[in-house]
Amino acid sequence: MLAARQNIMPEAGAQSPVSPLPVGAVGTAAVCAVERLRLSNFRNYDSLALDPAAQVMVLTGANGAGKTNLLEAVSFLSPGRGLRRARLRDVVRQGAAEGAESWAVAATVRGPDGPVKLGSSLGRTERGRDKRSARMDGQTVSPSSLSRVIGVQWLTPQMDRLFLEGPSSRRRFLDRLVLGLDPDHGRRVGAYERSLRERAKLSRDGGGDPAWLSALEARMAASGVAVAAARREALARLQRFLTAAVGQFPKAGLAIEGRIESWLDDHPAVEVESRFAEMLASNRQHEDAANGTAEGPHRSDLVVRHLDRDMPAAQCSTGEQKALLIAVMLANAKAEAERRGAAPILLLDEVAAHLDSERREALFAEILALGGQAWLSGTDRNLFEPLGGQAQFVTVDRGQVKTEG
Ligand SMILES: Nc1ncnc2c1ncn2[C@@H]1O[C@H](COP(=O)(O)OP(=O)(O)O)[C@@H](O)[C@H]1O
Ligand SMILES: [Mg+2]
Repeated sequence: MLAARQNIMPEAGAQSPVSPLPVGAVGTAAVCAVERLRLSNFRNYDSLALDPAAQVMVLTGANGAGKTNLLEAVSFLSPGRGLRRARLRDVVRQGAAEGAESWAVAATVRGPDGPVKLGSSLGRTERGRDKRSARMDGQTVSPSSLSRVIGVQWLTPQMDRLFLEGPSSRRRFLDRLVLGLDPDHGRRVGAYERSLRERAKLSRDGGGDPAWLSALEARMAASGVAVAAARREALARLQRFLTAAVGQFPKAGLAIEGRIESWLDDHPAVEVESRFAEMLASNRQHEDAANGTAEGPHRSDLVVRHLDRDMPAAQCSTGEQKALLIAVMLANAKAEAERRGAAPILLLDEVAAHLDSERREALFAEILALGGQAWLSGTDRNLFEPLGGQAQFVTVDRGQVKTEG
């Protein structure tokens, strides 16, 4: 039996339901959800209007119908390049009318402070390059500020290889977790990455003025240490939720492997900052222009262990790895709910299909208990039957949607 919980979001101004929260819930009453979604020229959607009316949205349809595209659209309500890490131009609908060279996602989102209108689209820099544009209640804002309104986290089939690939995708995964707990993290990472690129460019151009380089490295050390410190703090917050029993899902151990992060173990941040700046200066000679800065938080890795098996994640079975990822997502969602007063919106692409029925029902129960909005996709509607009256079912077919009931 799934935990019964009111599934329809409260009307504006209405009291939140006071039904007892199931075991494992963190007691958040605020609901964070997309209430209105409009797409134009987005992937295989010419235009789409969808007004979600439930805590759990289930998207079903054939391969290629547009389920992942719809989740991707919701992911553009948060900073970054969306759940596919797409080139922004690739998102424009092929075959869009002459002159329609942009895509747009518009949404009304209920955050902890009430409804906010968010918009995301493909824009242009002054030099005519593609960039992401974001709007909030009619004002142009930087995309990184979207994370202040709502959190969005996702799990996609591509992430099944997260523990087997190189560290860059795990680092991105980690930074997205941190972003949920600390909405300013995106800006920090952005500042650090800009200085990395600037330093690499100077190095390619023959080094440049040493005083200029030192000033750049000082800024780099400051933003880099801020990134490393935020990662450590977020993991410390997550720890309690990771090691609490989550029913059918394994306990996970997360650690950061990175020089700057480990220096922070036993040195104050100011000291680490000057050590990092010194290291950057002394590395100048033997760093080659092609590989850029040799050491720093842009080289750190996220190390994940299956605690019940006492094994590194990479050595676990495919199914165990999936369960670990789900466990981390759920722990993070709980931590985020506690931190921000509302659970993040969860986008779970094809997750149900990979779980046995017991785990699947456990996942549904966890999602309902969290109280945030979740979007689940799959080809087989039957798998979602246990959600019965507690979800809104949406059929997706060639870029069109039909809502049931
Ligand atoms: N820019 C685009 N313009 C038009 N169609 C696109 C674009 N990008 C992807 N598609 C198409 O969208 C379809 C649906 O993709 P997707 O959402 O991944 O399907 P699924 O329902 O299996 O998750 C695919 O057929 C793909 O070719
Ligand atoms: Mg898909």
